[in-house]
Amino acid sequence: MHIIRRFYDLKRLINKKAKLSPDLLVGFVPTMGALHDGHISLLKESTKECDLSICSIFVNPTQFGESRDLKRYPKPIEKDIELLIQNKCDILFLPSVEEVYPKTYTQQEFDLNGLETVFEGKSRVGHFQGVCNVIYRFFDQIKPNKAYFGQKDFQQTVVVKKLVEITGLKTAICVVPIKREPNGLAMSSRNARLTANGKKDASFICHALMLIKNNLKSFGVDKSVEMAKQHISKFQNAKLDYLIVAETKTLKETKQHKDQKIIALVALDYEGVRLLDNMILN
Ligand code: PAJ
Repeated sequence: MHIIRRFYDLKRLINKKAKLSPDLLVGFVPTMGALHDGHISLLKESTKECDLSICSIFVNPTQFGESRDLKRYPKPIEKDIELLIQNKCDILFLPSVEEVYPKTYTQQEFDLNGLETVFEGKSRVGHFQGVCNVIYRFFDQIKPNKAYFGQKDFQQTVVVKKLVEITGLKTAICVVPIKREPNGLAMSSRNARLTANGKKDASFICHALMLIKNNLKSFGVDKSVEMAKQHISKFQNAKLDYLIVAETKTLKETKQHKDQKIIALVALDYEGVRLLDNMILN
């Protein structure tokens, strides 16, 4: 696996490979490291579908509100490198902050039609503009044919699709299903901050989403969301931020479950850790 720190070197290597095979399909998996099976499932899709798979590890400062969160973000780089090699990553892109955001760089404000200000965007103001800045910078430089994102961060996938649409970038956005622990807990680097018991019990989040999915047809949106909220309220260490049903394309909250594709999205604080999950309902 090549480890590359500069856009210039990365582009040179991609061009060299493209000269040898002109139809080269380049897959890109952007991450912030502390890799687990969820990230690896994206890489596996890329290696299955593409000729060259590039994974980036970059803890993007512009998407963090509090510098405390940024500072305590885990950086187990040796372990990450090992995992990437084991899973046939061709190139690890590991840029510095100065490489991604040189002194001359000014942060862009993208017109995302309000998709960035609801749900996660409400409690993390500026977060998605930060994500869009880094993704735009990566896509613009690397020009991958396909980029892989996890359904785990569903709102992020909708926002990035919008970014591609409004900027005319040519990269296809591929969404990979949520990788879960055996008990149903969605994998996340934040799970490491839960206690052993907390990790076990946190399956209640996925169970709450299943309650909605299973009861939707008989009881409708409002009633099944209410049942799920009641289930969550049984867990004393859980503080619900939001649990809503929305249209998958527009992220607009809805009570309809017949005409369009809908998703349940949940965010809550459990043992002081913010956890996200979601489930497509139809
Ligand atoms: P990060 O949190 O490292 O996640 C990288 C990718 O892995 C994201 O697309 C995320 O949705 C996906 N992922 C995380 N947990 C997953 C799981 N359990 N199952 C499937 N996919 C999962 O998301 C980011 O980084 C950043 O915002 C980034 C896109 C890299 C921009 O900085």
